[in-house]
Amino acid sequence: MKRILLLPGDGIGPEVTAQARRVLELVAQRHDIKLDLDEALIGGCSIDATGVPLTDEVVARAKEVDAVLLGAVGGPKWDGIAMHLKPEKGLLRIRKELGLFANLRPATVFEALIDASTLRPEVVKGIDLLVIRELTGGLYFGEPKGISSVNGVRRGVNTMVYDEHEIERITRVAFEAARGRRKKVTHVHKANVLDVCQLWVEVVNHLAKEYPDVELAHQLVDSCAMLLVKDPKQFDVIVTENMFGDILSDEAAMITGSLGMLPSASLGSDGMGLYEPVHGSAPDIAGQNKANPLAAILSVAMLFEHSFKELRAAAEINDAVKQVLSDGKRTADIILPGQKFTPIGCTAMGDAVLEKLKALS
Ligand code: IPM
Ligand code: MG
Repeated sequence: MKRILLLPGDGIGPEVTAQARRVLELVAQRHDIKLDLDEALIGGCSIDATGVPLTDEVVARAKEVDAVLLGAVGGPKWDGIAMHLKPEKGLLRIRKELGLFANLRPATVFEALIDASTLRPEVVKGIDLLVIRELTGGLYFGEPKGISSVNGVRRGVNTMVYDEHEIERITRVAFEAARGRRKKVTHVHKANVLDVCQLWVEVVNHLAKEYPDVELAHQLVDSCAMLLVKDPKQFDVIVTENMFGDILSDEAAMITGSLGMLPSASLGSDGMGLYEPVHGSAPDIAGQNKANPLAAILSVAMLFEHSFKELRAAAEINDAVKQVLSDGKRTADIILPGQKFTPIGCTAMGDAVLEKLKALS
């Protein structure tokens, strides 16, 4: 029996999570995995119901399950709310409480979607990179932080701070991942300016001695941002601190064509995993059955891979998504102006993936 907590959240979160759930249930059944699914609130919907973006009770439930499947949080409705109560704080809290320090964001190109990228096809074809973002440290959580008044002048502060063990454990995840891929790790930093990044370089170099079979490169974050649009194929595994990873993972996602396609896994040291699409809550199209559920569905594939170690189940989901795309099925976000596809809705896209999965004997 595997226990999973669903946290659909806000905006298009509930719609895409509903489709992901159907895939999860079907594939679990095919592989004789018994599921115990439970659902709870996070983000703006939790603020509306309880006054806070994530309750202690939901945190406690999340700590008891085998995996968490999340939709998205946030929206303009909660824009005016105090900083410590924002929907995003729910997401940050659950990452921290579950110790999910390793955020895996694969950016791959689906053959059928090569034309959806704003970059030239020859630049895009064959992109297969994995951003491994540190998720529970750095500027997002460092102290001191806040806004204070110094001699009548207001001052805002955040702190980028890392202990060496935090750097080492995320770097280890990167080297291990690279071993199963093209054996290349690029550490992204700003060590020409930031002391904290100098420590990263030292710790990464030290750990690299344990992985002589993996090629290591260090890359400044600004230059990495440039190389990602110039020649993204050179990257295999990128490992970096929280804030750089936030920015670069959006960039990496977009060069593949659509933010609507990219899944993610956030993993802790005790085998805990939280899975979510990289795209946000897209409030402008929420509730209209227009959202692309494929990133959420691909997040389910990552769940089977990392939390259940069911690689075949994961591959089936990835293949099913590939097939629906080559059949010409498209939600609106992955149709470019001038293309002749007829957009289908979120549910219809879920139906299409389920159909492919059911066709497997
Ligand atoms: C992400 C998002 C979050 C982050 C926000 C919603 C807090 O941008 O998962 O990349 O900054 O980590
Ligand atoms: Mg982000």
